[in-house]
Amino acid sequence: MNTIEDLDDRNLPRHLAIIMDGNGRWAKQRHKLRVFGHEHGVKAVRETVENCAKIGIEYLTLYAFSTENWNRPRIEVETLMRLLVSSLKKELETLHKNDIRLDAIGNIESLPKKAYNELQEVISKTKNNSKMTLTLALSYGSREELENAVKQIGIKVKNNIISPEKIDETIINDHLYTRNLPDVDLLIRTSGEHRISNFLLWQIAYAELYFIDIFWPDFRGHHLVEAIRNYQNRERRFGKTSEQLN
Ligand code: IPE
Ligand code: IPE
Ligand code: MG
Repeated sequence: MNTIEDLDDRNLPRHLAIIMDGNGRWAKQRHKLRVFGHEHGVKAVRETVENCAKIGIEYLTLYAFSTENWNRPRIEVETLMRLLVSSLKKELETLHKNDIRLDAIGNIESLPKKAYNELQEVISKTKNNSKMTLTLALSYGSREELENAVKQIGIKVKNNIISPEKIDETIINDHLYTRNLPDVDLLIRTSGEHRISNFLLWQIAYAELYFIDIFWPDFRGHHLVEAIRNYQNRERRFGKTSEQLN
């Protein structure tokens, strides 16, 4: 069966990341404005967050708005920011009820003041919750994240805080927005597109990728269970041979 209860809770992805794509096309199919798709996308977010907490996922990271999404029509960007504020207000209860801590990655200072303040408030109010960490990628771009990391490391080298020979994966990792997150184990993208769109390039080095041909507002618990089952049936070799693993 494809219910959450039937899922084997051994070998769960510790860090699940999702590219929630296809809201616009979902709405277009129904001859509605893209905004309508985003509103329904929020419902799928709520359901997915609760399901992940129930399943026992420790880290869930959702791609909600990319650095490139700022180039969309102004009205769409405004709607997405408005939806962000109203969802944060509404979901604080749900986060507490499920013992979920909220965090954010991305250039969050670039968000409108209202969204930024609401986000900070929910982050601070949920900081002691410990069952799951929900990270929203907002105004996030992997290349920008790497650019910032290189800049910060460069400044530390210049000020003799780090010597260039000492720069390694750990130091790079410690200068990313995701410094407190483990590597991604499973990355899901909805909508049928097979691309990464500037999401967590460094962090998905050894993630399992799962693409599903449905639009985000249609993503339900059984799709999530299917994706996790599929993940559990894969052999992650990290460069070794199959024999070495056994
Ligand atoms: C994902 O759906 C939501 C965001 C990127 C904010 P889209 O809005 O990209 O929907 P499509 O891909 O155009 O259908
Ligand atoms: C990726 O989706 C960003 C989010 C889901 C927030 P896009 O719809 O922006 O990506 P492209 O343009 O299809 O690559
Ligand atoms: Mg899209």
